[in-house]
Amino acid sequence: MDEKCLRIAGVKAEEILDCRGNPTVRTTVTLEGGITASASVPSGASTGSHEAAELRDGDENRYGGLGVLQAVENVNSKIAPVILGVCSCDQTRIDSLMIALDGTKNRSKLGANATLSVSLAVCAAAARGKREPLYRYLGGTFTDVLPIPMMNLINGGAHAGNNLDVQEFMLVPIGAPTFADALRCGAETAHSLKKILKEQGHSTAVGDEGGFAPNLENDEEAISLLLRAAEINGYRPGKDVAVSLDVAASAWVRKNSYVQTKSKQKFTKSALAEHYRKLTSEFPILSIEDGMGEDDREGWRILSEKVGKSCLLVGDDLFVTNPDRIREGAAANALLVKPNQIGTLTETVEAIRLARQRGMKIILSHRSGETEDATLADLAVGLGADFIKSGAPIRGERTAKYNRLLSIERELFRPEYGSFFS
Ligand code: PGA
Ligand code: ZN
Repeated sequence: MDEKCLRIAGVKAEEILDCRGNPTVRTTVTLEGGITASASVPSGASTGSHEAAELRDGDENRYGGLGVLQAVENVNSKIAPVILGVCSCDQTRIDSLMIALDGTKNRSKLGANATLSVSLAVCAAAARGKREPLYRYLGGTFTDVLPIPMMNLINGGAHAGNNLDVQEFMLVPIGAPTFADALRCGAETAHSLKKILKEQGHSTAVGDEGGFAPNLENDEEAISLLLRAAEINGYRPGKDVAVSLDVAASAWVRKNSYVQTKSKQKFTKSALAEHYRKLTSEFPILSIEDGMGEDDREGWRILSEKVGKSCLLVGDDLFVTNPDRIREGAAANALLVKPNQIGTLTETVEAIRLARQRGMKIILSHRSGETEDATLADLAVGLGADFIKSGAPIRGERTAKYNRLLSIERELFRPEYGSFFS
């Protein structure tokens, strides 16, 4: 048997649960010789309207309509026959076959959840077939840079039942010497934050991504608490730690303005940009994600003029990991990468390449509905991401990715942490 090219011998999908108790797809790919690998797909709550379609059964008698039996069936009886016998290393061919089989622009026939589970499982199996860790199979011999984690320690927006309109307040250990130190900084800060919240009589319940979900006065209070919790542990704001925000402002879009979902506070585009500018002048803010709506190019331009020089402006709903939307251009200087927004690994890699060519920074991201699958960590290292978002360093589906990064860091001969600041 030619060990260099193990062919696909089996493809089997099944319905499993994500961390929110909703069904999702896991696919296991078997290669000739018996090597297997699985991949599970995550699911978002604040999804961009331009994302590839996630196929749900809509049968109200099962999981409130969220079942994925049709997507599972699509893998087992439609995708499998087309890719059986194809060399597992031929990722672009396998992904192209699935794209052609689907035939729609947004994967609505097969489901992006079906295609992505196959795409990632094929890649993981191919790496095993080559006896290489997934990150090295993807990135090559000199892959040695660990991403900087953006850890979501205070949850709001669609991810929590509290009063905060901004979806994510993230701690970013910009000055840590290693990924392990960065993770420790996040965990220590989270524990101090819990203590402070408790002392002040706030709830210490957590949101979907493992961060705390207290009711607070405003954005400023949330950021101050985050930085104070870091300082207690000796981490200096602006030197050792910074803050990243995911506003997820697409949810606030009205005709020509923005209205926050919970507080009902109204902003013009310029007032919202000015609000961010004030925050960035008061606090060490590294990045603002989806500060404006997904189709509000004018808003993004205003935002970029106000804070684009001092701050990373991250496009999530804006780009939805879609090469076409990146080609259209926008006033963002960083790309959030969520493979399930587009549906195959090949298209994900294309999105990253296009963004890099435009000088943008790359952030690999989980979804709010995750599984224990840690593939994202290997993707982040293998595809050379500057940052990774995997929620708080609390809750298993979040730590699965961070713990995998710890292992990768230990495994590398000469690991580098955070190319962004070097
Ligand atoms: P989602 O949120 O997974 O619910 O879309 C994550 C994000 O907006 O970055
Ligand atoms: Zn986002």
